[in-house]
Amino acid sequence: MKSIGILTSGGDCPGLNAAIRAVGKTALNKYGWTVVGFQNGFRGLMENRTVPLDSDALSGLLTVGGTILGTSRDKPHRMPVGGKVLDMTDAMVEVYKQNHLHALVCLGGGGTAKNAYRLVQKGLNIINLPKTIDNDIFGTDTSFGYDTALSIATEAVDRLHSTAHSHHRIVVVETMGHKVGWLALGAGIGGGADVVLIPEIPYDVDVVAEALRQRARRGKRFSIVAVAEGALSKKMAKELHELEKAAAKDKNGDAAKAKQKLAEWNSGRSDHTLKLAQKLEELTGLESRVTILGYVQRGGTPSPADRVLATRLGTACADFIAKETFGVLVATRGEDLTPVPLKDIVGKLKYVTDEHPMVRCARRIGICLGDEVP
Ligand code: F6P
Repeated sequence: MKSIGILTSGGDCPGLNAAIRAVGKTALNKYGWTVVGFQNGFRGLMENRTVPLDSDALSGLLTVGGTILGTSRDKPHRMPVGGKVLDMTDAMVEVYKQNHLHALVCLGGGGTAKNAYRLVQKGLNIINLPKTIDNDIFGTDTSFGYDTALSIATEAVDRLHSTAHSHHRIVVVETMGHKVGWLALGAGIGGGADVVLIPEIPYDVDVVAEALRQRARRGKRFSIVAVAEGALSKKMAKELHELEKAAAKDKNGDAAKAKQKLAEWNSGRSDHTLKLAQKLEELTGLESRVTILGYVQRGGTPSPADRVLATRLGTACADFIAKETFGVLVATRGEDLTPVPLKDIVGKLKYVTDEHPMVRCARRIGICLGDEVP
């Protein structure tokens, strides 16, 4: 009898359990395989921490948020073990063999795809499913988790209107999204924000202030500014570009220092949204407040769309395993689910482009994207 493993890695999100359930039920009921879960991502694989995923364990999971397996951001090749950081990839290969696995399903985002690809290169049968609230996985149209997070962020933008209106304030609301702006843009359009700032379109604070003053002159003395956590002013974008360029150069031995500088720069921008709100208050004379949505966007039960997507991806994943299709991400392309080789997607991000219909429509309805006054 064949046996397959499942792990969840990277940030959790709604829909992970629905996907585990779908892979597991198809494996058990259609193919008669046994299924084993590894706890806490790649760390559980290294430590051989297993959970049997029989039909009892797979029952009642569809609507449950988070992941029953637990997760971590541990990487096979840089694993903290006993006070050291070690490459534990071979140890994971051993555990895979000890468990007589026919395949290992890795549920995660871009980072997980990179880690999974390391195991592909060691000859393991790996298949990856796209999960993220950021919607940034390259090679797939959609990923489960995004729709739920988008609903939560949209409701927040929506609800902030009445309080901003009552107090004649600017409310700056920060969404997650890592290095991309899909959540802020989606919630900004869906929730009716007046300004949306995303990393892909560096902003000029004077332009944003002028857009807000223009609204005030029209009698709208409140505004909602949706800011992606990775949003950058033009100056910051330039600095970041230089630092990333230096960190990518490995030849002169300065890469470690450059990477350290980049990490410091990134941690130095953690209060970016607060500073932005202060600056906007100063430039417009309008009182400003900040709301950081944070982890609430990752919590709770998955939306119907994410439940359906995770279930479709999970069942297709088991079918691809049956067809011996490995080393791939199961991607959505329109209505279809397609296997995309991991080697073609690792290290790439799906950014919001200038020509994207969501950007165009935001501009059409007069949302300021920080680069020009609408
Ligand atoms: O990738 C999902 C995400 O929630 C990002 O939006 C955010 O930048 C990051 O994870 C937060 O990571 P952590 O859970 O490690 O704090």
